[in-house]
Amino acid sequence: MTRRPLVAGNWKMNGLMASLAEIAAMGTAYDVYLKTRVELILCPPTTLIGLALDVATQGGVGLGAQDCHADASGAHTGDISAEMLKDVGASYVIVGHSERRADHGETDAAVEAKAAAALRAGLTPIICVGETRTEREAGEALAIVGRQIEGSLPADAPGTIVVAYEPVWAIGTGLTPTLADIADMHAFARERIEARLGGGKGRTVRILYGGSVKPANARELMSVANVDGALVGGASLTAKDFMAIAAAY
Ligand code: G3P
Repeated sequence: MTRRPLVAGNWKMNGLMASLAEIAAMGTAYDVYLKTRVELILCPPTTLIGLALDVATQGGVGLGAQDCHADASGAHTGDISAEMLKDVGASYVIVGHSERRADHGETDAAVEAKAAAALRAGLTPIICVGETRTEREAGEALAIVGRQIEGSLPADAPGTIVVAYEPVWAIGTGLTPTLADIADMHAFARERIEARLGGGKGRTVRILYGGSVKPANARELMSVANVDGALVGGASLTAKDFMAIAAAY
């Protein structure tokens, strides 16, 4: 089973109008050679998606959002629906990032509803899972991630969805799990995805690794079995680092 590698950038709450130049630079650097090897998408803040559409898509870089509401429309002040994201040009949306689970109290059920909303709108959800440091130290990492997969993936999701394993303690810290730990977790996640979705979808769902991915460690992280790409935070903010990560394939 060949799964096309996916490198996704998550800008989090960073990026102003002036950052469009950086996105344009990514489009220019995403050359024919890279395109044959890896799919590249960027999830800037929602304010920039529509504005970035031309420069990003001209260069073949896809766009995604960082969250969506579960409803298509309605009285939800300040929220953005998956339909709105699709309308403005997004093709992906991250759901269940640990920062949203922590800052906004998002439960697995809420994440599942958001992922279902993304699918309803024609977006591909990137569903994030990952244990905290305390959970890892208590030997509970596999159990936690297994439970998040069971609770956060819509049972009828197609095999085209994306799951991102991001250990919370590795995000923005410069720390990463050992390659053996990543291999164990990704193999386990693949089994649990199959158990949840069935029909061989566990073989087609792409599982990204996220947490302190940098140009210096991208090649070794991406060489681990069942790692189908990366979800990159800080190092996706500049075209130079982001493209160096993409070139690790
Ligand atoms: O979603 C990506 C993110 O949480 C990882 O952040 O800065 O450790 O690459 P960073």
